[in-house]
Amino acid sequence: MKDDLRGKHILLGVTGSIAAYKSVLILRRLVQAGAQVTVVMTSSAQQFITPLTFQVLSRRPVYTSLFDSSEEIRHLTLAEQVDMILIAPATANIIGKIAHGIADDLLTTLVTAGPAPMVMAPAMDGEMWNHPVLQRNLSILNGLGVQIIPPEEGPLASGKEATGRLASEEKILAVVFDRLGRKADLKGETVLVTAGPTQEPIDPVRYLTNRSSGKMGYALARAAQWRGARVILVSGPTHLPCPAGVERILVRTAEEMRDAVLGHWAATTLLIMAAAVADYRPRHPAGRKIKKDGSDFFLELEPTPDILAELRAQRGSRILVGFAAETEDLDRQARTKLERKGLDMIVANDVTQEGAGFDLDTNIVTLIDAHGETVALPRLSKAETAERILDRIIELKSRSKAGDHPLR
Ligand code: C5P
Repeated sequence: MKDDLRGKHILLGVTGSIAAYKSVLILRRLVQAGAQVTVVMTSSAQQFITPLTFQVLSRRPVYTSLFDSSEEIRHLTLAEQVDMILIAPATANIIGKIAHGIADDLLTTLVTAGPAPMVMAPAMDGEMWNHPVLQRNLSILNGLGVQIIPPEEGPLASGKEATGRLASEEKILAVVFDRLGRKADLKGETVLVTAGPTQEPIDPVRYLTNRSSGKMGYALARAAQWRGARVILVSGPTHLPCPAGVERILVRTAEEMRDAVLGHWAATTLLIMAAAVADYRPRHPAGRKIKKDGSDFFLELEPTPDILAELRAQRGSRILVGFAAETEDLDRQARTKLERKGLDMIVANDVTQEGAGFDLDTNIVTLIDAHGETVALPRLSKAETAERILDRIIELKSRSKAGDHPLR
C-alpha cells in the first residue's frame, strides 16, 4: 500500500556525477510505482548520460536549460506543482549553489521557485564529502528543511574506498515512499470536508460572498481520500475539479451547506470545515433584479446558521476541525474561536502574509488544538499543508483514544 505513488508528481534533478546512471534505475522504480516524474538535468549531468534515456523512461520531456525554449514560465510553474524535488545524485557543486541561493541554471532556478519539499542524495569523492565547506553547506540545507540521504562507504570512481557513494536505490526510494506513499491511516473514517465560499443571494443576479478559491479544502479532501478515508466534500461554488474517489455535493448558500453537512452527519467521524461560510445574508432576498434609482441603498442582513456551533451539541465522538482566516491578532482570535465553537483543532492563517491564503497554491498556517498546543508550519504547498494537518489530526485522535481529551 505504501509503495503506491499514483497521483504524485516528482521532479527528479540529475547532476554531474558518475553516479548519474543510477538515477535511471530510481526513475524506473518511481514510474513503476505510478508517479509522474519530470527529469531536469544540469549540463554536466549530460556529460555522463543523455536526456533521451530519461525521456524514454519517464515518457515526458526532459528539461535541460533555462533558455532552451519559450516554455520558461511553464518550468517555473512546474516548481509550484510538484509534490517533491528529489536530487539524486547531488554533487558538491549543486549543494553549494542551492545552500547559497544561486540560481544560474534551470535546476537551481526551479528549486528556488517552489515550495515542494526537497530531498538530496549526495555522491562525490571522499575528500570532498569530508570537506568542511561541503559539511557547512549541508548543515545550511538541513536547517532549511532539506532532507539529506547520506552517501555510503565503498569503492569510489577514484579507486579509493571512502564515504561518497550514492546511497542505495532502496534507501532513496524508501525516503520517497515514506514521504509521499499512500499511508492508509484514515481507513475506516468518513471525513466530511467543506470547501470554497458560499453565495448569499441579494436578488437573482447579485450575492454576498467571501474570498475563497476552495483549494485548501480540496487539497484536504484529496489527501484524506489518499489515506484511505471515505471522503464527502461539501463544496460551495469553485472552478476546481472533484478529486478522484471523493463524493462531492455542490451547494451555494450557508443554509444549503448546513443541510448537506447535517444530511451526512450520521456517517461522519471527522469534520473539517475549511469553507469560507458567509456570516450574514440578506434578510429579504429580492425575487427580481433590484433596479438602481440613484439613491442610497440599505441591505438588511441576518446571521447565517453557524454550522460548527450547531454541530457542537451533537458531536458525539467526532473530531471537529475549523479554520480561522484572520488579518490581525491571529493567535488570540483563533484560540477564542476554538473555544467558542468547541473544536479539537483550528487551522489559523494570517491572510495578509505573503504566500498565504486566497487563490494561491501555497499556505502558511498555525495549528492550535484544544490541549493548547501550537504547531506553526512554514510556507508549504496546499497539498503538503493538507498532509501536515491530517498528520496532526491523527496524532490528536490517538491521544483522545488513550483518554487524553480536554473536551470530553
Ligand atoms: O466564525 P468564523 O466564521 O470566523 O469561524 C470560522 C470557522 O467556522 C470555519 O471553519 C468556518 O468553516 C466555520 N463556519 C461555520 N458556519 C458559519 C461560519 C463559519 O461553520 N456560519
